[in-house]
Amino acid sequence: MPDIKTKIRNLIPRKVLYFYYLQSASKACRPDLKRRVYDKIYNNSEADKVKRDLTLAYHIVEKGLTMPVPRPGFGKSVVLSLAETIFIYQKLNLPPDELEFKQSVSVLKEYKEFHEKINFQLDPEVQRKLQLIEEKIKIPEGLKQIRTSREEYFSDINKPYDLFSKSRYSVRNYTTEEIPLKVLYDCIDLAQKSPSFCNRQPTRVHIVKSTEKKSQILEIQNGNRGFGHLAETLLVISSVISTTKDIHERNENHLNGGIYIMSLLNALHFNRIGACALNWSVSDDKDLKIRKILSIPGNEVVLMIISCGYVPDNFTIAASPRKRAIDITTNHLD
Ligand SMILES: Cc1cc2nc3c(=O)[nH]c(=O)nc-3n(C[C@H](O)[C@H](O)[C@H](O)COP(=O)(O)O)c2cc1C
Repeated sequence: MPDIKTKIRNLIPRKVLYFYYLQSASKACRPDLKRRVYDKIYNNSEADKVKRDLTLAYHIVEKGLTMPVPRPGFGKSVVLSLAETIFIYQKLNLPPDELEFKQSVSVLKEYKEFHEKINFQLDPEVQRKLQLIEEKIKIPEGLKQIRTSREEYFSDINKPYDLFSKSRYSVRNYTTEEIPLKVLYDCIDLAQKSPSFCNRQPTRVHIVKSTEKKSQILEIQNGNRGFGHLAETLLVISSVISTTKDIHERNENHLNGGIYIMSLLNALHFNRIGACALNWSVSDDKDLKIRKILSIPGNEVVLMIISCGYVPDNFTIAASPRKRAIDITTNHLD
C-alpha cells in the first residue's frame, strides 16, 4: 500500500516534479558552488597558489622524464613557467624547505642533467633559466625519478601492509602482453571489498580492450600523452546515481568511487599489473562522448579511467614525493 506522500507524489505531473526537484537540488548545491567561486575570487593566499602551480608544473616534468621514450626538449613551456614560478616563490620569501619548492628545483636539475646526458641542446631561453636556478638556489635535493625492474618493482607485493602500500606507484609504461579477463575479475573482486555507503556498492567498472574504443577514449582524456597508447586495458570507473536517495548524498558516488579506485589500484599492483589513474575532470561534451563510445547509461556518472598493462623488464616511475602527516594535520585535542 503506497503511503500518503507517495500517493500525492503520483498525482503530480512528472514535469512539475522534475522542476521542483531541480530547484531544491540547485539550492542544496549552491553553498558548495559559492565556496568554490569565493575561493577563486577572494582567496589571495599567494603561497597556496604558488605551491599549487609548482606542483602542477613539476609533476608534468617529472612525468615527462619517466615516459617510455622521453622526447628530447619536451615540455619547453612548462619548464619555463616552472622556472618563473620558482622565482616568484623566492620573491615571496616563502620557506625554502617546503616540499613543492624543493622538488621543483630538483626536477629542473634532473631535466637539465637528462638533456646533458643525451647531448641535446636545449632552447637557449630554457638553458639560461636552468643555469640561473642552478647558480642561485642552493637547497638539498628532492627525490629523483626511479629506474626499476619488473622484479624489483613487485618485490614487496607479498610483504606486510606498510611495505606493500609504499611499493605502489603510478606506472606509465606497459607491454603488449594481454591481461586475461580472469585476472581483471580477480582484481575487481578484491576491490569489491571496499566499504561503501550502507553497503550500496554504487561503483561500476567498464573493461575496455577494443583498440578503437581505447584510442577514442584516450584522445579525449587530457593526461595520457606519451604512454596511454600502450595501455593493454582501460578500466573506466563509473557509479550509479540511483543508488543515492536524495540530493544531500550527491557526493557519495565520487566518495565511494575514490575509496573503490584505491582498492582497485592496490589489487592491480598485487596482481603484478602496472596501472595509472587518469582524471575524468572534463567538459560535458567530452563526458557525452565517452558515454556514447561505451553506451554508458544516463544514471551512471563517469569518475575516472585507469590505464593498465603488464610492465616491461625495466622502466622508470615518477618519484611523486609526499608531505608528512604532520604537514597536513590539524589537531583538535581538547
Ligand atoms: C584523481 C586522480 C587523477 C589523476 N590523473 C592523472 C592523469 O590524468 N594522468 C597521469 O599521468 N596521472 C594521473 N594521476 C596519477 C597521479 O599523478 C599520481 O597518483 C600522483 O602523482 C602520485 O603518484 P603515485 O601514484 O605514483 O603514488 C591521477 C591520480 C588521481 C588520484
